[in-house]
Formats: sequence, C-alpha cells, structure tokens
Amino acid sequence: MRTALYPGSFDPVTLGHLDVIRRAAAQFDRLIVCVMFNSEKHGLFRPEERVELLKKSVQGLDNVTVDCASGLLVDYARAHQVSCVVKGIRTVADFEAEKQMADINRGLCPELETMFLMAKPELGHISSTIAKEMARYGVDLRAYVPQVIEETVAARMQQAITLEKKEG
Ligand code: PNS
Repeated sequence: MRTALYPGSFDPVTLGHLDVIRRAAAQFDRLIVCVMFNSEKHGLFRPEERVELLKKSVQGLDNVTVDCASGLLVDYARAHQVSCVVKGIRTVADFEAEKQMADINRGLCPELETMFLMAKPELGHISSTIAKEMARYGVDLRAYVPQVIEETVAARMQQAITLEKKEG
C-alpha cells in the first residue's frame, strides 16, 4: 500500500489544491490531506474548520482522507506509514520555498520522498490568499474555491470584516 501525504495550510482549500488532490490520489493507493501549522501564516479559519471544508470538497474521492496535525511533518509521515509527500508548484517562488522545505524534510527523514505536481496553467494564479482577497471585495468565488464551500468562505470573510471594523 503506497500512502502519500499532501500537507498544507488550506485556509481555505482552493480549486488548485483540489486539482492536486485529484491528480495525486490517482497515483497512490491512499492520499492523506493534512492541515498543518505554518508559523508564517495567520488564518481566516481554525484548523478544524479547514478540515471540514476539505472533507466537503473531497467527497467522492474514495482513497482520500483528511486530517489535521500540529507537529513536524516528518513525525506525522512516520506515524502514518507515509512514503511520499506531494506538493503543488505554481511559480518559481513556489519552487524555491518548496525546495527548501523538501530539503529540510529530507535532512530530518531521508527515506521520505517529496514529489511535485505542476499546477495546471489555468489554475496557476489561484491561492488561498487570492481567494480570501476576492472574498473581501465580494467577488464571485466560483473560479477560486470548490463550489460546496463558496458560501462559507464568503460569509466568514464578511464576519471578519465586521470584526475588523468593530476593533477599529
Ligand atoms: O500551504 P503551506 O502554508 O505552504 O504549507 C506549509 C506546511 C504547513 C506544509 C509547512 O509549514 C509544514 O510542513 N509545517 C509543519 C511543520 C514542519 O514540519 N516544518 C518543517 C518543514 S518546513
């Protein structure tokens, strides 16, 4: 059984993430999509909410499970018999950041492989950050996030804006 891990912040999951999930799931027996902690990012959704949004988005993909973890990626991989980490690459900037993370993970756990999937050109401009920016300005989110979570993302952003205004 070959198990792959697709880790990320997923705040929230986008159409780009979903495409990587579908393509990676087709290459492995099992794919675990795991919400992990990125110390450089501030979240719109709590980790457990991101898990729920992911679960809704991957319904029907039978070999995909969704999880959440707060520790080191390599520790999670060891504990769940993961042989390969999968990441998506959109840009040269992504490549540089992902290469650094892959090198760190290789140093910590040499037997854990990392594979990269190139984003489809039509999805290469999509990120969670851009989806949130579009939500902030009330743009239709259908081109950015899975349909099943569009309303939730739009509503949460409006809540966040209301809170920002209250707090000045
Ligand atoms: O979607 P992101 O924000 O690019 O995902 C980054 C993430 C969460 C995969 C990365 O920060 C991570 O692996 N966090 C877990 C902690 C860890 O193992 N850090 C060392 C590798 S950089």
